[in-house]
Amino acid sequence: MKDFRTYDGIDIPAVGLGTWQSAPEDCYRAVRWALDAGYRHIDTAHAYGNEADVGRAIRDSGIPREEIFVTTKLPSHIKDEQGTEAHLTESLRNLGMEYVDLYLIHAPWPWSDIGRDCTEGNIIAWRTILELQIRGFVRCAGVSNFLPSDIRPLLEDTGVMPAVDQIRYFVGNTQRETTFFCQENGILVEAYSPLATGSILDNDILSDTAARYNVSVAQLCIAYCLRNGTLPLPKSVNKARIEQNIAVDFAISDEDMAKLDALDGIGPYRRLRS
Ligand code: A2P
Repeated sequence: MKDFRTYDGIDIPAVGLGTWQSAPEDCYRAVRWALDAGYRHIDTAHAYGNEADVGRAIRDSGIPREEIFVTTKLPSHIKDEQGTEAHLTESLRNLGMEYVDLYLIHAPWPWSDIGRDCTEGNIIAWRTILELQIRGFVRCAGVSNFLPSDIRPLLEDTGVMPAVDQIRYFVGNTQRETTFFCQENGILVEAYSPLATGSILDNDILSDTAARYNVSVAQLCIAYCLRNGTLPLPKSVNKARIEQNIAVDFAISDEDMAKLDALDGIGPYRRLRS
């Protein structure tokens, strides 16, 4: 499968393993299975509490560090310079790595206070991450859960656009305004929860469509993200599903894409901000 390339020339393998809600002991095995199955992209976060397991699994795999793309994230409540540097240092220690491939501001506001205006703090965190990038600790810098209105101030202050915005994205919830803004501006959209954390897998329309391609609903959902130019990060701790989720080399027809696009807004999802 083709890699995605960020506007600053970094290649990111097309399907990444998501590890949100993967308990540490499950996470280790999941990462090992994923690497065996051919994944070369693992997504974690300080907040997930499993960075050490991701790092250990990568080391134990014997695959050279530089062949694996590793993402982690700055906790959403950290919006100052010292805290940003300290948390990246801690994440690197947890991972047992000298650098991460992608470092994201996890959210524009603390999870305990969704929607709070943290523009000033986001600018400070963003500036700090760019410095850490120059110092070689971060290859690629980005954000997560940011709306266009959260991204613009970063650009205005530093002149540097995030390379990635990782957002909640799945059939029925494509955050069109944010996706359009990002794609217009060369920001790669990564899709977390591409299976809606499992809640769309029994949808009748998706089941019928998937059956016509002889694939699972999960595979259809992952292929849908790819077809829309977003990089899916399906989470699984099950070996067979991990293997299935990267076997998505089939093309959804334009007609079916239109049908799936039309499901936007009716899925069982939680809006972060309307
Ligand atoms: P499990 O980890 O037991 O495989 P998302 O990526 O949207 O967060 O969705 C993750 C959820 O979907 C988890 O509950 C995961 O369970 C489940 N899942 C992942 N891959 C598949 C698959 N191929 N088929 C069915 N369920 C899946």
